Amino acid sequence: MSAPNDSYDPVEVTPLHPDEVARMRDEALAAIAAASSLEELKEVRIAYAGDRSPLALANREIGSLPPSARAEAGQRVGGARREISEALKERGAVLEEERDNRVLVEEAVDVTLGWDRRPRGARHPLTTIAERMTDIFVNMGFEVAEGPEVEAEWYNFDALNFLPDHPARTMQDTFFVEAPSGGESGLVLRTHTSPVQVRALLDRPLPVYVVAPGKTFRTDELDATHTPVFHQLEGMVVDENITMAHLRGAIDAFVHSMFGAGLRTRFRPYYFPFTEPSGEVDLECFVCRGESVGNPDAPCRTCGSEGWIELGGCGMINPRVLVAAGVDTERYSGWAFGIGVERTLMFAHGVRDMRDMVEGDVRFASAFGMEV
Ligand code: DAH
Repeated sequence: MSAPNDSYDPVEVTPLHPDEVARMRDEALAAIAAASSLEELKEVRIAYAGDRSPLALANREIGSLPPSARAEAGQRVGGARREISEALKERGAVLEEERDNRVLVEEAVDVTLGWDRRPRGARHPLTTIAERMTDIFVNMGFEVAEGPEVEAEWYNFDALNFLPDHPARTMQDTFFVEAPSGGESGLVLRTHTSPVQVRALLDRPLPVYVVAPGKTFRTDELDATHTPVFHQLEGMVVDENITMAHLRGAIDAFVHSMFGAGLRTRFRPYYFPFTEPSGEVDLECFVCRGESVGNPDAPCRTCGSEGWIELGGCGMINPRVLVAAGVDTERYSGWAFGIGVERTLMFAHGVRDMRDMVEGDVRFASAFGMEV
């Protein structure tokens, strides 16, 4: 039979000796005090307060003491561990505060710096004015039609009654597209938006009321008044009992909405192969209203003291065009017009040089504001 070992001397369990516990505690406190960063303190915590720290190991020895000695040893080790944990907490708080103060200085943000220094883009005024022009007709009930920029010669010329030797077909005006093998492809960069008339008539059931805004190309040199790439707005109506009076009414509604209520328009006879009769539309100068005509003291820069501004071409659709598009000319007639978008922008906003429109300088576009 065994009996409690009364004569067991706790002093013999070295790690639990008061001097040893005090030494371990002091070593830990010294290490804590010496830790100069939160990273160092983390290592100190593992070394002196972790599961494998000297005092944790000493704690395990308590179980091997006689019961009478356990309480005192437990208090001693527990007290030392508590002191260490307190010290860790205090040092941690000090180091954290130091770190926070340092971060505030080192990672300071200058809130007075401008945050919006990246320049914003802007929609191009040609885009926005073409949309406005289109919308005026959409409000009157027109639909928007489209066609390709690389167009078949047949749509661009033949179907529009340009005879094979019409001068506009020559290299002077037209960009011809070469076939991959060299030679003729039968394709051109469309020289106007009028081919969309024929496409719309072939695509849609009658009656047709369409506008077609789009890019057009001609072999012009870029200067203040010409650009090889430009834009037009085509308009077309084909219905029963259509007359030139309807054309005039639609053009007037457009002019009043775009340039100012009550402005007068005038039609001058002209020639286009795809309209008969054809005309050019002028609009009364909305700046001088004709006051500058014959009045050298008050010249007008907008109309060049002409009193009128040329807007575009128009006319009653030539029955040959309608026939090419399969329309019954006994029953239907129609009119069409083509208005230059660049010209409209020049007049509406006083842009004097075409080159400003094509150079792509965002400062030009930004001046028109962020119209959407
Ligand atoms: N296509 C012509 C041009 O580019 C403009 C034009 C004139 C269009 C008369 C039309 C029209 O629809 O009827 O010069």
